[in-house]
Amino acid sequence: MEDDVAHELLEIVRELRAHVEWHGVSGTIGLPRDPGAKARVEAFWREHAAPPAFEEAPPAPSRDAPRRAPLEAVAAPSAAPSPAAPLDRKDSPARPVRAPRVSPAPSPAAVHLPKYGSLDELKEAVRSCTACALHEQRTQTVFARGTGSSRVCFVGEGPGAEEDAQGEPFVGAAGQLLDKMIAAMGLGRDEVYICNIVKCRPPNNRRPEPPEIAACSGYLRAQLQFLDPEVIIALGGTAVSGLLGLTEGITRLRGTFRLYQGRIPVMPTFHPAYLLRNPGAKREVWADLKAVLAHLGRVS
Ligand code: URA
Ligand code: SF4
Repeated sequence: MEDDVAHELLEIVRELRAHVEWHGVSGTIGLPRDPGAKARVEAFWREHAAPPAFEEAPPAPSRDAPRRAPLEAVAAPSAAPSPAAPLDRKDSPARPVRAPRVSPAPSPAAVHLPKYGSLDELKEAVRSCTACALHEQRTQTVFARGTGSSRVCFVGEGPGAEEDAQGEPFVGAAGQLLDKMIAAMGLGRDEVYICNIVKCRPPNNRRPEPPEIAACSGYLRAQLQFLDPEVIIALGGTAVSGLLGLTEGITRLRGTFRLYQGRIPVMPTFHPAYLLRNPGAKREVWADLKAVLAHLGRVS
């Protein structure tokens, strides 16, 4: 019990630190800690042409005018890096199990992808990326597993030692548990796409730092633009803050759908590595995955 409290406190301190640093990186409050970080990231992308995700047009208005009533309380997507919007109102009696899309996905033709013509091209660009210091110690980049037609996307934190060695995400112990979770959901290999917030291994398996997350975020956004999944499962606090800019702590955020870029439902849940240390939390993760299955129409 004391361990739990200590762990939660540690999580809160970590999340608070990530939150403050995130604001520093995004320039929202201009932390003096590393004033050059944002400029370096911007300079890199200027030199290498902005990735498509940074030039994204706002979602096209729907021709069928989808009913927006359940989402009236959702804030308009703000400027990056915090496009998250809760799906449920504070005063709503129950959170919805289903997570409706706010607007239909733009048709592939409507998505402007000036730099990369395909996921394969994007993967090639990542392979030689040096946008952040993580490139220095990587064996190789770890792009993704799965096909571009996958409907369900899992996003983890970053490659570990095994992943760095093999060039595939989630192939270590946490990956084996993730595979079991996916099998338990009744999903086939081709139905899921698995990637990470950062594509290079952070040394000693530390968490990626906010400037590294910021540097890599264009690739993830481009991946998700190509993929346009029906639902995203964010594995752990780093994935949630990297995708949504939310830093409240995974214990509080898990179990409730949020929207990525105001459009794609994201289910935050615990990272499988956390489950390996805390098997009791599998119950919560299973509840979260069942909500995902309900959203996909896989269970009644
Ligand atoms: N943990 C992650 O977050 N990603 C991986 O690819 C492997 C372990
Ligand atoms: Fe580039 Fe991402 Fe690797 Fe950093 S982590 S070097 S941004 S691919």
